[in-house]
Amino acid sequence: MSISIALTKGRLEKQTVSMLEQCGYGVEALKNKGRALVFPDSVYDISYFLVKSNDCITYVEHGVADIGVVGKDTLIEGGQDYYELLDLEIGKCKFIVASLPENEIFNKVGHIKIGTKYPTVAKNYFLSKGMDVEIIKIDGSVELAPILGLCDGIVDIMETGTTLKENGLVVLDTVCDISARVIVNKASYKLKRKEIMKVITDLERMVKENASNN
Ligand code: PRP
Repeated sequence: MSISIALTKGRLEKQTVSMLEQCGYGVEALKNKGRALVFPDSVYDISYFLVKSNDCITYVEHGVADIGVVGKDTLIEGGQDYYELLDLEIGKCKFIVASLPENEIFNKVGHIKIGTKYPTVAKNYFLSKGMDVEIIKIDGSVELAPILGLCDGIVDIMETGTTLKENGLVVLDTVCDISARVIVNKASYKLKRKEIMKVITDLERMVKENASNN
């Protein structure tokens, strides 16, 4: 039976494609993709498509994709109707709380404002600290928001830390670690178990091999 795999485009894309290649999958079309969005595997009966992270969950939840590769950040923020089967241990980064050094958000009395692309993560974090927080949803360049005075601090992803540093922000706390995960549609897991488990087992082997090489 043929299967479809939704890959998150952007930061995770190159690493995911190279893991599939290491496993012997025919991903040449994905490596020379131009503006195309759907790609057949040249070895197996698989079609890949490239989507934004939130859409990756949507395609998997609706069964249009049998498998998805997406960051844990996106999974924590939204979506729940899928099986999460594997940590690929790529795209490693962290959810952090940051602010300008002078803002001292943890010492502020009363209401604080937090800018973030991840309102659920941010809200849960500050609620767990018993803090009175107003979440301001921002779609990108979150580091700008405290600099311009829109908020006191941010909850965002940090990979190298360069963006924070270059904008004069400091990390105040780590919320949790993040990496790319393989998710599977619940019905597909039953109906196409053999095909899906082959992909999972191949990738799992590569995760172990990469870990032992590091
Ligand atoms: C992410 C994140 C930070 C940056 C962190 O943004 O929101 O801004 O990367 O990376 P670093 O620690 O390696 O500097 P992204 O580049 O995805 O763009 P966006 O802000 O427009 O969403």
